[in-house]
Amino acid sequence: MRSSCVLLAALVALAAYYVYTPVPSSVSEPWKLMLLNAVFHGAQQVSDLIHYLGLGHHLLALNFIIISVDKKSALSSARVKVTDTDFDGVEVRVFEGLPKPEEPLKRSVVYIHGGGWALASAKMRHYDELCTAMAEELNAVIVSIDYRLVPKVYFPEQIHDVVRATKHFLQPEVLQKYMVDPGRICISGDSAGGNLAAALGQQLIQDVNLRNKVKLQALIYPILQALDFNTPSYQQNANMPILSRYVMVKYWVDYFKGNYDFVQAMIVNNHTSLDVEEATALRARLNWTSLLPASITKNYTAAVSSSTAE
Ligand SMILES: *[C@@H]1O[C@H](CO)[C@@H](O)[C@H](O)[C@H]1NC(C)=O
Ligand SMILES: *[C@@H]1O[C@H](CO)[C@@H](O)[C@H](O)[C@H]1NC(C)=O
Ligand SMILES: *[C@@H]1O[C@H](CO)[C@@H](O)[C@H](O)[C@H]1NC(C)=O
Repeated sequence: MRSSCVLLAALVALAAYYVYTPVPSSVSEPWKLMLLNAVFHGAQQVSDLIHYLGLGHHLLALNFIIISVDKKSALSSARVKVTDTDFDGVEVRVFEGLPKPEEPLKRSVVYIHGGGWALASAKMRHYDELCTAMAEELNAVIVSIDYRLVPKVYFPEQIHDVVRATKHFLQPEVLQKYMVDPGRICISGDSAGGNLAAALGQQLIQDVNLRNKVKLQALIYPILQALDFNTPSYQQNANMPILSRYVMVKYWVDYFKGNYDFVQAMIVNNHTSLDVEEATALRARLNWTSLLPASITKNYTAAVSSSTAE
């Protein structure tokens, strides 16, 4: 009895040690964040072990864990019709609000999920519920794109997939089939999906036949640059639970099919150091002290990492 009490106490202490991580006092539900971080961290460690044992790529393993916990089959409800199909060979899940007689043509959102170009799926409960809610509340057709992920494909194949699926959807006969108003189409995405949505927007603008097809671009905490990993935000949140700067840079390296040996160099901005001529002009435009208000930059000091600048 006594020994099992000791064992239990030891296990609880061990679990608390594993779960506990310092979080800023401004976080409203610190234990929820810590628990989520511990679960994600645990899944990452299991995936790394699977990779180490040669049983599979760690990102495939991690995505398998994430999706199996959270997968939802395509279930239409009374108010939203859900269909899994493909647009020009790219898998998509389409959510259609039911027809309203007073509004025969619907709005539309092309949605691109996040997950570091390597994780998650339009078929996850999280994204399924988001798109269902959008379809219902906007009376819209939501096209949620299941682009291929790292390590199956790398940059720029993810962009090619979202461009291909969207161009297919924007054809007049396809819009007509889904009863979409061609003047009210939006592209959107979160995180890595925000990055892909921004790239998609740029591609569509360059295509004279498609230039005026998209009315709106709505990016949710998008990833928009890889030149400077020492922005005020990266400095302030470098060790934030779930997505630390180190993990973020690793997702970039994976996306480019690079080598993790570069991660530390990228964290100190050596990949865009000021002795690289092409980088100088770009970096000169990114003066956060002049671009951002002091309330955001806070204690920011520019990290100018270069052999000549030091
Ligand atoms: C960054 O570059 C400088 C200058 O070349 C070098 O001294 C330093 O070791 C590099 N740091 C990393 C982490 O690669
Ligand atoms: C950035 O802008 C600030 C404020 O305008 C200025 O003082 C600073 O010299 C600039 N830094 C660089 C590297 O240009
Ligand atoms: C930023 O500076 C303020 C005062 O200048 C200080 O109170 C605060 O602790 C600093 N924050 C960090 C993260 O260094």
